[in-house]
Amino acid sequence: LGQVLHTYEELGSTSDRAKELADEGAAHGEVVVAETQTAGRGRRGRTWISPPRRNLYFSVVLRPDLPPARAAELTLVASLAICDALRQAGVDAGIKWPNDVLVGGKKIAGILTELAAEPDRVHWVVVGVGVNVNARVEDFPAELREEATSVAIERHEPAPRALFAAACLTALEGWIDVHAEQGFAPIRNAWRERSVTLGRQVLVRSDGREIAGVAEDIDEQGALLVRTPERVERILAGDVHLLRP
Ligand code: BTN
Repeated sequence: LGQVLHTYEELGSTSDRAKELADEGAAHGEVVVAETQTAGRGRRGRTWISPPRRNLYFSVVLRPDLPPARAAELTLVASLAICDALRQAGVDAGIKWPNDVLVGGKKIAGILTELAAEPDRVHWVVVGVGVNVNARVEDFPAELREEATSVAIERHEPAPRALFAAACLTALEGWIDVHAEQGFAPIRNAWRERSVTLGRQVLVRSDGREIAGVAEDIDEQGALLVRTPERVERILAGDVHLLRP
């Protein structure tokens, strides 16, 4: 990954640029990185705070040999990789389903996966990754200060962004290879080990519904299984709130 690197001082969103490049024929592994984004996007239409030169904002073009129904697995692959890169940097990161990377309950990295597909074939997947590397508390808007953190905040010293970017791409490449060669099973096991969701009491908002229960497991498709008093709910997409530890 990253043999072809498209670097920009400023973009609206690295994922928007990566999608354009993918439509123009960019190859598997091409990476778009920017020092800042003016319209950084999070999941579910949210904004991703992108202060210049402090954090990491990049998007990777993938051309996996997968049916569209399995493309979501790549989201979990990416969260694993970023979690590992953070752990190598000495940050005790874990993953909240599906792909939020947290430290001490605060978000340190987010992943946004988008794809173009026909019914039986994926054209491309763009995995957008934002990691809070050197953001300071004051870089986050007041309402996020209790919910967000960065490598520098956790480690009490600035982190070398370029080295950290290389560690993220190396980890991502490693887990993408495991997934391509061995399928989802090893990803599922590694994800479970790093999960901060499983075993916890959760409140899930999905399709306008609220589901409260215990997060029991993820299934062979990466869906979250939540045990409620009535049944086990299978959740394919949604927002998870962790309730008491
Ligand atoms: C989330 O947790 O909601 C996902 C956040 C993803 C943010 C990254 S930053 C690089 C890439 N470009 C974007 O506009 N979004 C992703």
